[in-house]
Amino acid sequence: MGNPVSLVSGSSSGIGTAIVEAFAASGYDVVVHYNSGSDPSDPRTHRKSGQERAEDIASRLREQYQVQALSLGADLSQPEDAFSLVDRAHEHFGRLDTVVSNSGVTNYVRDKDGQVVRYRFTETPIDHLQQEMDRVLSVNLMGAYRLCQRSLKYMIEAAESERQAGIEVAHRSFLFIATVSDVAPDSTRIPYGVSKAGLNHVVLGAAFEGGQHNITVNALRPGVVETPLTSRPSGLVDPLTNQEYSVAETYGLMAEGGSQALPRIGQPEDIAGAALAFTRIPYMTGQLIAVDGGFTLVNGFPNRELFLQEGMRRRAASHNETNE
Ligand SMILES: NC(=O)c1ccc[n+]([C@@H]2O[C@H](COP(=O)([O-])OP(=O)(O)OC[C@H]3O[C@@H](n4cnc5c(N)ncnc54)[C@H](OP(=O)(O)O)[C@@H]3O)[C@@H](O)[C@H]2O)c1
Repeated sequence: MGNPVSLVSGSSSGIGTAIVEAFAASGYDVVVHYNSGSDPSDPRTHRKSGQERAEDIASRLREQYQVQALSLGADLSQPEDAFSLVDRAHEHFGRLDTVVSNSGVTNYVRDKDGQVVRYRFTETPIDHLQQEMDRVLSVNLMGAYRLCQRSLKYMIEAAESERQAGIEVAHRSFLFIATVSDVAPDSTRIPYGVSKAGLNHVVLGAAFEGGQHNITVNALRPGVVETPLTSRPSGLVDPLTNQEYSVAETYGLMAEGGSQALPRIGQPEDIAGAALAFTRIPYMTGQLIAVDGGFTLVNGFPNRELFLQEGMRRRAASHNETNE
């Protein structure tokens, strides 16, 4: 029978690495997927290239968990790459039990000096918006969409073979790593939110497509998680040390201040534990589930005192202006 097989896109870094490790630790043979093969180092963190990281991860997983771990490269912004990644994984292992679409990029564009140019809804020029949208839609939406299309094709074929052989059709699953930014408003990340919100509809359609074949399709929507993606500078400076906070540190501070129910941001392992669990629930499909420490739960309610005080301050200010 052999081990079940899991392919995790974007497992050369952050959340994807934790997910692929969770599968290996549970006895799955795994595909560790990377994107950046040719870069000598990551410009953000001077890390090794994705290929080197993926190969290191695969070799560690083989040694630590005695499973097969294959590293494969693909740029999911390229239409053929998404299909060929799934084809190569299936060709190598002869089966695909679980696929996690985790690769993702945020919207930002660098100027000619390498500085990040922040997106502003009403100010962003036409070509800047076009670049931002092309970048996030090609990877986060279209790459993930194609990965799902191709994976379900193999999973449906496997289910049909089992049916024809008169054996029970096994449960297989596809999971998107989406985000709570699909609904959480943030005017500097509208393109990113648009790309991820689009996935929500793919989940619903694919769940119906897969359901007849015992394939479940869901989306896990993380809140803020400490990874290389959120290690970029935030623009906010710590007044005590004069050091600039990273994006993750800023959200960590906000969490301590009550912006979410649990007073800490997530770690990749928090998401990995949930991802493994969600892919193994045979009667849950078409769901868009937040794993966010209560980030979306808040909606301002626990901060009502702050909002109330601010409302009163504004009303008093406008009252004073009228009486002057
Ligand atoms: N961190 C958060 O706070 C957070 C919150 C909500 C949702 N998410 C989502 O979680 C997922 C993982 O994020 P992370 O924080 O772990 O980010 P990360 O550390 O930056 O990892 C991103 C992964 O995506 C891969 N990737 C980038 N461009 C790609 C492309 N063109 N084709 C294929 N793969 C590509 C990268 O490959 P290489 O390293 O090989 O280039 C890397 O493995 C993303 O979908 C993100 O949107 C993250």
